Amino acid sequence: MKTTYEINNQTTLYMGDCVDILKKYNENSIDCIFADPPYLLSNNGFTCHSGKRTSVNKGEWDSSKGKDADYNFYESWLSECKRVLKPSGTIWISGTYHSIYLCGYMLQSLGFHILNDICWFKPNAPPNLSCRYFTCSHETVIWAKKDKNHKHFFDYKLMKNGIWDEDSYKKPKSQMRTVWSITAPKKSEKKFGRHPTQKPLELLKRIILASTKEGDIILDPFCGSGTTGVAALMLGRKFIGVEREKKYIDVSVKRFKEITDR
Ligand SMILES: C[S@@+](CC[C@H](N)C(=O)[O-])C[C@H]1O[C@@H](n2cnc3c(N)ncnc32)[C@H](O)[C@@H]1O
Repeated sequence: MKTTYEINNQTTLYMGDCVDILKKYNENSIDCIFADPPYLLSNNGFTCHSGKRTSVNKGEWDSSKGKDADYNFYESWLSECKRVLKPSGTIWISGTYHSIYLCGYMLQSLGFHILNDICWFKPNAPPNLSCRYFTCSHETVIWAKKDKNHKHFFDYKLMKNGIWDEDSYKKPKSQMRTVWSITAPKKSEKKFGRHPTQKPLELLKRIILASTKEGDIILDPFCGSGTTGVAALMLGRKFIGVEREKKYIDVSVKRFKEITDR
């Protein structure tokens, strides 16, 4: 079965387990990682999708395997990420409260240095149907560097002076803050198929522009529908993606080809 997809000489996608694939890469070889690991929230609960009550379950990949197994899995993929990152490299990890505290704990245990935690605010988040809790309307994205003593890249000027939302036109330029208001992926971003936890392209573009230069190598160990790769391709960065499920590889390949065939 085909497991490697060379889209062009800048973009490679692997179907398989991220820990196994990362082991094939040299240490200190990657500039930046975006990781959107399993949320561990598929617990048979309910959520709201398009105004209807639906199961919260995202897929087998998202269920908790128990505290110890989850801990061991997070430790193994994050250790591999640390090994392959260059000393000046940085990692972004996104998650909800189900997973993000384990990510933060593991980052600190493995000796990463946390730079920021971004609150990605979702202005169009669905309502909470039980009416017993606040409506979840954000995800946390932790930004950390491999080595505290190495200088990391941050495009401060672009983050300060870029046009990031409609309000940017009206306001005097000020430093970008850690709350980013970005809506769910647009319909056009899902035209090749749906992934239950697909990230908006705008979020990935901002992350890549903030922390990488043209030609840098970006890796995504939990590639899903390929959003990180799409943003990397559009912005002239090299990309390595890993995804376990063939149906999501197929969506990614179609999204990548739409850009390379233009
Ligand atoms: C939270 S989703 C990522 C969504 C992605 N950011 C996007 O925009 O589409 C996590 C993905 O990781 C995949 N996955 C889970 N465990 C994996 C593993 N051990 N190795 C590689 N992929 C894995 C799942 O199949 C799922 O598609």
